[in-house]
Amino acid sequence: MIVNVTPRAKLAFPEAPCALALPWFEDGPSGDSPLLDEADALAIERLREKGLLRGKLEETYFLPSAGSTYDGVLFLGLGKRDACTTETVRRAAGRGCAALSAHRIEMVAFDAASLPEHAHGFVEGVLLGQYRFDQYNERKQDEPPAPQVDTIAIALESGAHAAMRHCEQARLACESANWARDLANTPPNDMTPSRLAGAVLEMAEDAGCEGEVFHRDQLEELEMGAFLGVARGSVEPPTLSVLQYKHAPAAQTVALVGKGVTFDTGGISLKPGQDMHEMKFDMCGAAAVAGAFRALAALRPAINVVCVIPACENAPGGHAQRPGDVVRAYNGKTIEVHNTDAEGRLLLADALAYTIRQHHPDRVVDLATLTGACVVALGHYAAGLMTGDDALAQSLDAAGAITGERVWRLPLWDEYGKLIEGVHADLCNIGPPKEAGAILGGCFLKHFVGDTPWAHLDIAGTAWGGKNIPYLDAKHASGYGVRLLTEWVLRTSEETV
Ligand code: BES
Ligand code: MN
Ligand code: ZN
Repeated sequence: MIVNVTPRAKLAFPEAPCALALPWFEDGPSGDSPLLDEADALAIERLREKGLLRGKLEETYFLPSAGSTYDGVLFLGLGKRDACTTETVRRAAGRGCAALSAHRIEMVAFDAASLPEHAHGFVEGVLLGQYRFDQYNERKQDEPPAPQVDTIAIALESGAHAAMRHCEQARLACESANWARDLANTPPNDMTPSRLAGAVLEMAEDAGCEGEVFHRDQLEELEMGAFLGVARGSVEPPTLSVLQYKHAPAAQTVALVGKGVTFDTGGISLKPGQDMHEMKFDMCGAAAVAGAFRALAALRPAINVVCVIPACENAPGGHAQRPGDVVRAYNGKTIEVHNTDAEGRLLLADALAYTIRQHHPDRVVDLATLTGACVVALGHYAAGLMTGDDALAQSLDAAGAITGERVWRLPLWDEYGKLIEGVHADLCNIGPPKEAGAILGGCFLKHFVGDTPWAHLDIAGTAWGGKNIPYLDAKHASGYGVRLLTEWVLRTSEETV
């Protein structure tokens, strides 16, 4: 995708099928743009009289042009001026994607002069909204490829420096989110732990960064008993990928750790068959941290980033771990495995302890599709945020508000922690059923981070399945976390230099 930010007076439309997108407020500056072809003025007046262009929220209208400057005008209803946020623009642009595609538009210019601070929302809405995953669909492969927007022009009055930076970040973060979505949507017979490691390593090397993959024998040497216990039940070998973006003079390091269970059957504590296929998305945490790494490696912030991805399959093979097994994690703590389906915390226990001991990060954030309980608590519209560090909570919350990838904090009080104390070992991997499941996941992970400022994001709800978000579709992975983490690391790098 090419994204240009240009002064409105200098905007030129190409020969290729193109459209002009105009913001329309109910009560403020509305679609009267100097970029409009005079030939469309009459048609627009008619539409207005008919009440089809009122600027109401969620209203979009595509008007094929009567002139020869461009092929059509896409009107984006944004509602009340004062209530408009970047997310409003993002959603409107996402909603407009269907019309852009139906009219085979390849270039779209957005007149953002009335909302320069939200201009990048248009870039995001289009990039995320026109995402498709159809390489496995033979029927669709036969059809000529549906044309997509490949160029976005953001037209502004002047003084576009901030907007240019925001649009460039938006492009990189959304392309990386779509890259992460591809990983997550790839079926689990193809997206194995080895393939996942190969994909993230290739990405890091292409970005000019260092990457390393540890295999089973190395994980055994490192004594990652919790992670290895989960991996036992599958013929697919586990991998631990470590990617590093090094900014030479930077003193600070952030670590991003992501759960990479490429398929979660539950193991011996087998899951019910209904919706089990969705457990191919159990590596969305891994995809998200790798996606953020991809964007950050291109944006080159003044901070070091280490990205750690434990990946395996949770399967009930003959060698699988049993309920009742006791495993020893990398940091020496012992864990009684009462439910082999609470596997994410076992991988992350070792990955977090390893990351902290080997890389001494100043802050750690982990992302994981950790608990069904988090989906019960928050549905699909916010990730569960768990941390003992108020500053970290605040900065993640701010990044969530900016990107529309929202977080909602849950407590980690000591009373909860007591519920996962072990009888036959230091810890048990589950607590009492139907009690604060998401929080108990967070409490468990806390045992593996020591004093390092750390936050856990349970993305079980947000990684897929959200309805009524116009730039996403519920059936595919959302890429949740890529934009959030990119924004958060950039802000963190600016605050710590
Ligand atoms: N990957 C699942 C969590 C999950 C479930 C994510 C549904 C998204 C949708 C995780 O490994 C799991 O199975 N968690 C258990 C934990 C329980 C046994 C304490 C769960 O949520 O049931
Ligand atoms: Mn599970
Ligand atoms: Zn899982």
